[in-house]
Parts: sequence; C-alpha cells; structure tokens
Amino acid sequence: MTEKKINLAESHRLRRLRGSKFLRELVQENDIKVSDFIYPLFACEGQNKREPIAAMPGIERLSVDLLEKEIHELASKGIKSVLVFGVTDRKDAQASQAYAQDGISQRAIHVIKESCPEMVVMSDVCLCPFTDTGHCGLIENKRVANDSSLELIAKTALSQAQAGADVVAPSAMMDGQVAAIRELLSSSGYQDTAIMAYSAKFASAFYGPFREAANSAPQFGDRKSYQMNPANLREAMREIEADIEQGADIVMVKPGMPYLDVIAHARSEFDLPIAAYNVSGEFSMIKAAAERGWIDEQAVVKELMLSFKRAGTDLIITYFAKDLANWLNN
Ligand code: PBG
Repeated sequence: MTEKKINLAESHRLRRLRGSKFLRELVQENDIKVSDFIYPLFACEGQNKREPIAAMPGIERLSVDLLEKEIHELASKGIKSVLVFGVTDRKDAQASQAYAQDGISQRAIHVIKESCPEMVVMSDVCLCPFTDTGHCGLIENKRVANDSSLELIAKTALSQAQAGADVVAPSAMMDGQVAAIRELLSSSGYQDTAIMAYSAKFASAFYGPFREAANSAPQFGDRKSYQMNPANLREAMREIEADIEQGADIVMVKPGMPYLDVIAHARSEFDLPIAAYNVSGEFSMIKAAAERGWIDEQAVVKELMLSFKRAGTDLIITYFAKDLANWLNN
C-alpha cells in the first residue's frame, strides 16, 4: 500500500518542470509575438479628424490624412499587418460607396500601402457600413438577398485589391461569397490577392461596440438570418470547409474568446492558417474591468492571446495589438 503510493507520487511530479523561470520557458508549448497580431484601423471622412469611440478606450476613427503617421508608428512597434474598415455617412440601397474607386476604404488602403509598402494590408469586405439599412447584403422583399449581394461583394473586394490590399476579408456571411470574389479577382488579374474568409462568424452580442465604431448597426431586425447560431459547432466546420473549397487562403473564427472550442476543432480538421477575431466586446470588457482596477490588464490580455495560440490560432486580429507591441517590446 505505502509502496504503491510512493511510486505514483514519483512518476507524477509535474511540478519538477515548474521550479524555475528558465525551466518553465524551456518546456513552454506556445508563445506570443508581435507578428501574430493584426491591428484593426477605422478610416473616416474629413481632414485631421480623430474621433474616439466611447466604448473602446484608446481606439479612434482616423481621417485618411492621418493614416500615414499612424502606420509609421505601428510599423516602428513591429506590427506587420492592419485590417482596414471604412466608416462613412454616405449610405444608399446599393452600398455604392463599398466599391467606389474613391470610397473611404479604397483611399485608406491606398495611403497605407503608399506610406508603408511592406505592411500587410487586409481589408474588410462587407456592405453593412455602406447600405442605408445597415445590413450586410441588399434587401429584396424585406429579406437580405444572397445572390444579388454576391456581385457587389465581389466588386468591393476587387476595388480594394486595385487600391492595394494584399488580403481581402469577406465578412458578410453570404453563401458563395468567397467563390464570387475569387472568380472576379482571378479574371481581373488579381490572382495573387489572398482571401481571409470570416468563415465561422457567429451572430454575436460581442459586436456591440464595433457597430458604434463603424456606424454599421442594422436599422431593423438582426443578423441572425446570415450570421451563425452561437450554439452550432458542426455547422461551423461546414462553413469553413465550404470557404476552403471556394478558394479561401486563411479562415477565421469570430468572435474569439467565447469560441475557442471552434478554433480547436478547426485546427484538428484543417491545415490552412486560422485567424481568430478578438472582437470589440471582448476588448471593451477587459478595458472596463481594468479601468476599475478589478483585473491586471496586461496579464489578462497576454493570457488571452496565449489561449488563442494554444487553441490553434495562427493570426489574431485584436484591438490590443498596439498595447501588446508595447508590452512585448519592453
Ligand atoms: C461587418 C463586421 C462586423 C465586425 C467585423 N466586420 C460587425 C457585424 O457583423 O455586425 C465586428 C468586429 C468587432 O466587433 O470588433 N460585417
């Protein structure tokens, strides 16, 4: 009896490798580095404008003329990629500003690429910031229409590629959007533009602060007829598989924190790079608790980023990218 107890204890001393900092580092399974992170940028109309977003402390909408300075600051911190969102009041039924050559996103992408050619410029492809209804597709018979939205979504992606985007990121959750984009890009000479598909994008309450930032809240109803039901994991795998078949280069799970199981499943089933979107609500919750002194922001954020890596994420889109760069560089 005693003998057995001693043997068990000796073979199960997992604390042996936790005894010192260096030893812990030697056996550490995952790591975070600045190049894991993609920083979202909100570009707005006007000159010399910096508009704070109430629920997202430290995040601002910047007019296009301020982007050059911003991008140099990000590059100097070691940030290698940004995800561009255009914000405008110019909205109509056809979302014409989404694919206008001189639209807000196109101008922003152009300035960023001119001022810092090595920066990997990704751009959100969706109609919701540009439709008068705030929905991600066109409205027909009071419904968000799938097939007629595809053409405009593909045009939006092409116009962003023409402006200089390296990666286009369709987020509208219309069926067939990746195929429509891939076809138009290829037939227009942009076969090298990559597609990061928001594949498993859930109809989430965690997007609240973003909709203020991007001025893109739906004017009626909700997004549940196109974004996924948060209850569904198997369906998420079908969405990812469909996007891979249609030509996605990177697939995304969004939101991040409440969907680590989805990331882990995707990691075990697919070999493409997987991105996680650590969305606005996740950011705001941590900022709010930190402001009250209830949590240690830096420790919590680093732990969260590590959890994405452990689950199997390759790239992380996060509003904390700048903070993380400061913390990891010092
Ligand atoms: C556009 C889009 C949304 C987000 C990214 N692209 C909002 C939405 O679907 O309502 C959310 C990002 C965030 O919350 O940080 N379709």
